[in-house]
Amino acid sequence: MVFSKAWTLEKHFKDFPKPSDFKLQEIKLPEIKDGEVLLEALFLSVDPYMRSYSFVVMKEGDIMIGSQVARVVESKNSAFPVGDFVISSAGWTTHSISDGKNLEPLLRNWPKHLPKSLALGTIGMPGLTAYFGLFEVCHLKEGDTILVNAAAGAVGSVVVQIAKIKGCKVVGCAGTDVKVAYLKEIGCDEAFNYKTVSSLEEALKKASPSGYDCYFDNVGGAFSRVALLQMKQYGRIALCGAISVYNDTAPQIGTYPVVSFILKELKMEGFIVTRWKDKSEEALKQLMTWVVEGKLKYHEHITEGFDNMPTGFLGMLKGENTGKAIIKV
Ligand SMILES: NC(=O)c1ccc[n+]([C@@H]2O[C@H](COP(=O)([O-])OP(=O)(O)OC[C@H]3O[C@@H](n4cnc5c(N)ncnc54)[C@H](OP(=O)(O)O)[C@@H]3O)[C@@H](O)[C@H]2O)c1
Repeated sequence: MVFSKAWTLEKHFKDFPKPSDFKLQEIKLPEIKDGEVLLEALFLSVDPYMRSYSFVVMKEGDIMIGSQVARVVESKNSAFPVGDFVISSAGWTTHSISDGKNLEPLLRNWPKHLPKSLALGTIGMPGLTAYFGLFEVCHLKEGDTILVNAAAGAVGSVVVQIAKIKGCKVVGCAGTDVKVAYLKEIGCDEAFNYKTVSSLEEALKKASPSGYDCYFDNVGGAFSRVALLQMKQYGRIALCGAISVYNDTAPQIGTYPVVSFILKELKMEGFIVTRWKDKSEEALKQLMTWVVEGKLKYHEHITEGFDNMPTGFLGMLKGENTGKAIIKV
């Protein structure tokens, strides 16, 4: 008999999430049936979407949503034998039973020296978000100048490096000087701390006096109001995330600089990474190749211990992470 630890959503988030919004529970799991597997979580992901999506897809008392890298510890499903590693959407739980439908096998030929937690980061959903946002939405070309915010995070750090691999000039912004130093280390041509510059407009103009061909927006809100005015003619804007407004209680209002959009003939597109499911495997292989070749560096911000999941989640929302925020069981 197996007991699983699980974090449930005790109270829907109001404003910035707090530790008391979560509850740690112990759940007795039944024996697995034919076609099922028992999974043991090794690494769990904490992501910004959990803040905004929880309202849409969860009710109070549900196990927190999320992905994990898990090992198959019992199996009555020949597709997932004991010892296999999988990516599961079981949520914030140490053990779970699956019929295989919510499981993705770890990419084949995963190199021994690479941490499997990368399947939740650079070689996982955040890496794919950077990849598709750049190629399918921004239609990135060699020589473009690209702006990315939350640039030292899971998605942003991959955006920076893919854009460099493709021969672009990259301007990255982040919220601490340590992150700015990291951005330079991974190849940003220009990087600055958006919290300490006296004028965001001046900082953006200084970093690229001729403006930006592409803007990969992870942040939205006040940052975007300034950044959108710095676009070049025919600029492309990928709306990936809007973390600066996820805790707002009032519905979003406000106008975009429409005249500037028309005169510059800009294209702006929101996207969700799962749109390109059919191309994901090919993209993951490319991301893995770049990692193995040393062209795509990774950094993980690891919080030890399943009991510390809320701490890791809240820390990521506050900006404590450089690279991907991961919980190690
Ligand atoms: N569209 C999609 O399919 C998709 C998929 C994955 C992620 N996303 C979005 O992409 C964005 C980045 O996600 P991620 O997983 O890579 O997270 P992340 O960047 O690793 O972590 C979140 C970062 O956001 C920054 N941040 C927090 N509050 C902020 C604020 N008020 N203003 C500006 N920056 C703030 C912090 O960095 P600083 O220290 O730099 O402020 C923090 O480290 C999020 O908006 C997320 O929702 C979208």
